[in-house]
Amino acid sequence: MNLRLTESAGWRSLAEHVKQIGSRHLRELFAAEPQRFDHLSCRHGKLLIDYSKQRLSGETMRLLRELAEQADMAGWIERMRSGEAINHTENRGVGHTLLRAGAAAPPEVKTVLTRMQDFCERIHSGEWRGYSGERITDILNIGIGGSDLGPHMAAQALAAYQLPDTRVHFVSNLDGADLATMLDHLSPRTTLFVIASKTFTTLETITNARTARDWLLAASGDDKSVARHFVAASTNLKATSEFGIAPENVFEFWDWVGGRFSLWSAIGLSIALAVGFRNFEQLLAGAHDMDEHFFEAPFADNQPLTLALLALWNTNFLKAHSHGVFPYSHSLALLPAHLQQLEMESNGKHVDRQGLPVDIATAPILWGTAGTNGQHSFFQLLHQGSELVASDFIALAKSDFPLPGHHSGLLANCLAQSSALAFGQTQKEARQAGIPEALLPYRAFPGNQPSTTIVLPALTPFTLGQLIALYEHKVFCLGVLWNLNSFDQWGVELGKQLAGRLAPCLRGESPTDTLDSSTRGLIEHLRKFRN
Ligand code: F6P
Repeated sequence: MNLRLTESAGWRSLAEHVKQIGSRHLRELFAAEPQRFDHLSCRHGKLLIDYSKQRLSGETMRLLRELAEQADMAGWIERMRSGEAINHTENRGVGHTLLRAGAAAPPEVKTVLTRMQDFCERIHSGEWRGYSGERITDILNIGIGGSDLGPHMAAQALAAYQLPDTRVHFVSNLDGADLATMLDHLSPRTTLFVIASKTFTTLETITNARTARDWLLAASGDDKSVARHFVAASTNLKATSEFGIAPENVFEFWDWVGGRFSLWSAIGLSIALAVGFRNFEQLLAGAHDMDEHFFEAPFADNQPLTLALLALWNTNFLKAHSHGVFPYSHSLALLPAHLQQLEMESNGKHVDRQGLPVDIATAPILWGTAGTNGQHSFFQLLHQGSELVASDFIALAKSDFPLPGHHSGLLANCLAQSSALAFGQTQKEARQAGIPEALLPYRAFPGNQPSTTIVLPALTPFTLGQLIALYEHKVFCLGVLWNLNSFDQWGVELGKQLAGRLAPCLRGESPTDTLDSSTRGLIEHLRKFRN
């Protein structure tokens, strides 16, 4: 196994190669290669990835693919597929692709899917009733991180498929403002809570779940109402039972499903409740289709690998440490937030699989928002700031909410932005356009900001599944290339432990004299106002 990819022949070739191509402007690259779009784009079914606006050439891609071979990409894909414990710090396999394997899924997965289907049908048909005998009209998913972002993003993305009589909502934050304002709009008689938590120990989720239970009991006055209004998606059956959720109301999943990869599991129950089980199955089918493509397609056509190689090139060779994701789809507005967890929790690591400090940059800062809104806030920095930012633009050929006169304008803006970022505008062009001489420095755009455009034919459950799985496998490939364990997240633990110790200090139950002076000062200041 290659422990230090940076010492490989492939890495050295790329380090030489970037000296030639790294300084060439995208204008020059496009002028030199009229067929650039054809050469630097790849299709899988109806999904197109255009990476011709990346600062590279066909030769760059060839060298990057060679690097993937030297990193034993094929071997790692096989290790993941065969269930090897590649999450070695937790001694777990990585099985999210099994959740969407259709006929090839393990029996326990099929059993839970059947139970989810049955449950959805009972809710949607009105057979399942609340304590007062009324039908359930509102579902509130309580979860955080992967138990919130994935299902929330997917349910919102599929707004066009939303069933008319079941509204699905999401609460995640420990801040009472999240739950309190939500409960204000709900009725305890017609609300069902889905407590989504892999561990069922997460402070935010358990606190919100307890408050929700108190809210229900205050209205119903009957402990038995919990069974009509609370279900859980979890791996921890002991904790769900201690909370008071009946075993038949628990939809199980397993420790080989990572939180940020869990929307395909029982954590997806809220998605199925929002859009119907058939559409949830289509979401799984789309992801499965991308899995098959990822496992089987040659490197040159392999879309997830291509995205990963572009990210590696931008991060490690062009030194872009920021990655923007701009879906030109309001329905996909939460995709950047989901990808933040997926990419940054997976590959935001500073030691490699052997526990040694990495010698290169790993996951860049990922951020973004839906277009066109971003254009009117931070795009100025992309166009004329001092940072190199690599971007993904996501476009839908057909709108999911087709209002006359909207979609062409949206697509035109998407294409205009990636084009302006790539090619900019010289002072000469600005002068020709009639800009006064004194303003020319301000009206020139350097361009040369790299971007990829991903085009979906339409936003459907199937294409959404493909899109999410595309990014999941991209993250996996980057972990292989950077020699990281992409499937643990120890970095979030320290803050959790400290919060547990500081809570009693804030309540005045523990002394603060062992704390650092800043934390102590802040606690004393806060306590003055709290009292
Ligand atoms: O923030 C850390 C984390 O463990 C995430 O990986 C996970 O998605 C989230 O917390 C929620 O965890 P759980 O589903 O166990 O409540």
